[in-house]
Amino acid sequence: MKTNQKMIANALLNSVPSDTMAYENHDDVIAIDAGTGFVKCVSAHMRASFPSVFGTRRMSRWEDPKEGTVEAVGYEAFKMRAYPDAVLVRAVLEGRVADEHAFAVIIREVAPRLGCKDILGSSTVIMGLPYGAAAQKRELERLVQRTLKPSRALVIPQAVGTLVAEGARTGIVVSIGQGTTEIVLFEELRYVSGVSVAQACDYLYDGYAYLEHDTNRPEKRRLDNLAAIVSNELAVFKTKLVRDYTVYLSGGGVLVEGLCHALQERIGGTLKVASDPVYSNAQGLYKLGQMILSSTEGRQEISHVP
Ligand SMILES: Nc1ncnc2c1ncn2[C@@H]1O[C@H](COP(=O)(O)OP(=O)(O)OP(=O)(O)O)[C@@H](O)[C@H]1O
Ligand SMILES: [Mg+2]
Repeated sequence: MKTNQKMIANALLNSVPSDTMAYENHDDVIAIDAGTGFVKCVSAHMRASFPSVFGTRRMSRWEDPKEGTVEAVGYEAFKMRAYPDAVLVRAVLEGRVADEHAFAVIIREVAPRLGCKDILGSSTVIMGLPYGAAAQKRELERLVQRTLKPSRALVIPQAVGTLVAEGARTGIVVSIGQGTTEIVLFEELRYVSGVSVAQACDYLYDGYAYLEHDTNRPEKRRLDNLAAIVSNELAVFKTKLVRDYTVYLSGGGVLVEGLCHALQERIGGTLKVASDPVYSNAQGLYKLGQMILSSTEGRQEISHVP
C-alpha cells in the first residue's frame, strides 16, 4: 500500500473514537461490499446480496422489431446464459473492478434493492477494497461518485469490516471470498500489514457453479487443498508478527460445507468464526460509516480526503 493512501485510510479509521464502539444512528449511510462473487449491501433498514454478474444480449426481431439490447445483473443475468448470444461478465475480479460499465450497472442496482433510491443523493456510500488494491482507492471513489452521485463516497480496506462487525478493534482477519483470501492485521482498527492470497472459493468451483452453492458441493480434495493453502499462508504471515493475535474468520468460504471445519483443525491459537461471515465486511463497513460520521474528527477527515 502506498504510504499516502495508507495514511488516508488510517486517518479515517483513526478518527473513530478509541474509547468506545458507540455511535449515533445515521440513516444516510449505505455500505457496499462489491465482491468477486456477490455484492453485499447494507442500509439502515435493509440488507441485500446478489451475484456480481452482468449480462447483455441482443433481442430477436420477435421480441423487439429494432433488435435492441437488454442488460441484466445478478441471477437475472445468470439466467441469460440460456440465450446463445448472451454475454456474461464478472464485474469484479480478485476484488477489483474488472469491467467499468458492468461495475457501474451493478452498483446502480444497490439502491433499488435496498429500497433507498430517494436518499441516495444525500447519503454517504462506504465501500471496501482488498488491502492490496490501495492504488485503486481514489479511482473507485471517483467511479462511485460519478455513477451513484451520493453526497460522498469513501473507500477503506474491507477486511476491517469483519473486526468491527465482531465488536473488536485488534486482530487478524482471514476473509475467504470468491476471488481472494485476505489475511490482514489491524491494531486498534488501523491497518498494519496484510497479504492477499489468490486461492479462494473460485478454487473450489468450476465456472459459475458457486452461484448455486445450495446444490453444488465442491470436491473434498479441493476443500482440503484450500484449507492447507490458507492455513499455511496464515502461518507464514504470523511468523512476521511480534505477538499472537486472535484470528477472525469471515467471507462466504466459511459457509462452504467442510471448509471451516478443515481450517479449524489446522489453525492454532485463538480462532473466532464471524457470526455472519458473508455479511461481516458489509455490516462492519456500515457500522464504521456510522462511527466516522458520529465523530467530529471523522467528519473533518472526510472533508480533507482529496
Ligand atoms: N450459505 C452458503 N453456503 C455455502 N456457500 C456459500 C453460502 N453463502 C455464500 N457461499 C459461498 O461463498 C462464496 C462467496 O463468498 P463472498 O461473498 O465472501 O465472496 P466475494 O466477497 O464475492 O469475493 P471476494 O471477497 O474474493 O472479492 C461463493 O463461492 C458462495 O458459493
Ligand atoms: Mg469479499
